[in-house]
Amino acid sequence: MSVIRVDATRVLGRVDRRLFGGFVEHLGRSIYGGLYEPGSPHADEHGFRSDVVAALKDLRVPVLRWPGGNFVSNYHWTDGIGPVEDRPTRMELAWHLTESNHVGTDEFLRWCEREGIEPFLCVNMGSGSLDEAQSWVEYCNAPVGTYWADLRAANGHPEPYGVKLWALGNEMYGSYQVGSLPAEQYVVKARQFAAVMKRTDPSIQLIACGKDGLDEWDRIVLEGLADIVDMHSIHTYTGSPNYWVNQFAPYQAERALTRMRALIDDVAYRKGLDKKVRISYDEWNVWYRYTEGIFAPSDQPPLEERYDLGDALAVSTYLNIFLRHCDLIGMANLAQMVNVIAPIFTRTDSLFLQTIYHPFRLYSEHTQALSVDTFVDGPTHVLEERPEWEHWIWRAPVSDMNPFQLLDASATRDEDGTTVTVTVVNRDRENAVDARLDLVAAQVTGLAQVSTVVGPEPYATNDFDHPETVHVVEDQVDLRGDATYRFAPHSTTVLRIPLALV
Ligand code: AHR
Repeated sequence: MSVIRVDATRVLGRVDRRLFGGFVEHLGRSIYGGLYEPGSPHADEHGFRSDVVAALKDLRVPVLRWPGGNFVSNYHWTDGIGPVEDRPTRMELAWHLTESNHVGTDEFLRWCEREGIEPFLCVNMGSGSLDEAQSWVEYCNAPVGTYWADLRAANGHPEPYGVKLWALGNEMYGSYQVGSLPAEQYVVKARQFAAVMKRTDPSIQLIACGKDGLDEWDRIVLEGLADIVDMHSIHTYTGSPNYWVNQFAPYQAERALTRMRALIDDVAYRKGLDKKVRISYDEWNVWYRYTEGIFAPSDQPPLEERYDLGDALAVSTYLNIFLRHCDLIGMANLAQMVNVIAPIFTRTDSLFLQTIYHPFRLYSEHTQALSVDTFVDGPTHVLEERPEWEHWIWRAPVSDMNPFQLLDASATRDEDGTTVTVTVVNRDRENAVDARLDLVAAQVTGLAQVSTVVGPEPYATNDFDHPETVHVVEDQVDLRGDATYRFAPHSTTVLRIPLALV
């Protein structure tokens, strides 16, 4: 019999709601034809799609990163303000597309205001200048009385937007990135950008451009910027047509966070810093199928990954990892939200929810304030070493994390210790796993609510004609007395258990 031990008295950290953030980039059908589509029957009076907003609302996404991504490294924000008919159409160098600039700063920030979503802006440190970054902060955040703030007022928004979260460039290490540069040079440039942006608005929070948490780039950037930034970003994409590699790969994030925790502690200690940098995991997801447009122009709408149930299990494992490391994570952003490697997939007249939508929705809805200690002991799977793991999306060695448990779990509880949410992913392809829930120093006081992401087989997908192949089943279970639970094969289960700490 497997055991899932949850010690609700051992608090690992407070969960920042920003852990359930998202990312929307000017890329393919993410913004144009996704979030924003004036020709859609679902468009509101501003051209934004109300059905997409409703699906985002159900995900309770508190923060959205914008406008890129690789896009931002050749984006000039001033192209996207003022009368729409006067805005230039630009050649777009990251994804070999064109940018109409119909959605710009005011459209995005007003939409965020209307929908109650916090914006997280990334500045152009590729082709962009110091002046551009400075004036963007001024345009967004300064009270009227200066050139850029007065322009904002003239464009219809006298009150400052008060954008708090600002990233210092995107993936500046990548040879594919406009204006990429070595880590040491990035540090020098980022300090200059940080200085003018902070002088413009000292209340903003800055996010340094890290890599995947496993690279020398991360060490150099953290060392060079820890005294002036609030967060260090990490990006991780994993995935494989091999079911087991797909399930195992998210542990790369666990490895990255473990390494970054040690680096952050070390840098803070050696530099005598009174605060510790946190991680902004501002791009993460399964992504390996569709890579059109990255290296060459493409006729296909780029990056329209179709997800299966196995991918939903991998996303669940990522979220478990983030919750286990929540004391380190200031923010995480699922990349991305609409059409482009995304849980929400649209056509002009409708949308469907991809498989990965369901675990994200359940975790976002049911995660509670405090992450608590969990331990799993049960059947394991041994991953065979394979050469294809050398693929660019898989960097961590497997030897020291192999074999891995078929069940992966995390748990959170409310402040008062009256409810615990236990989230369990069963990666066993064929078999249910029976596990005893060992609730340390706690007694179950009532029926538990159970939500399970299920589907007929691990490669099952949803689409417009079959939107419910992978779906959520709701149930109740009595865990008083016999606290064993049967976790269905290839499933994610969220248990909300009323309890009393004893
Ligand atoms: O999310 C797609 C792309 O992946 C982003 O533009 C880039 O930052 C990353 O490489």
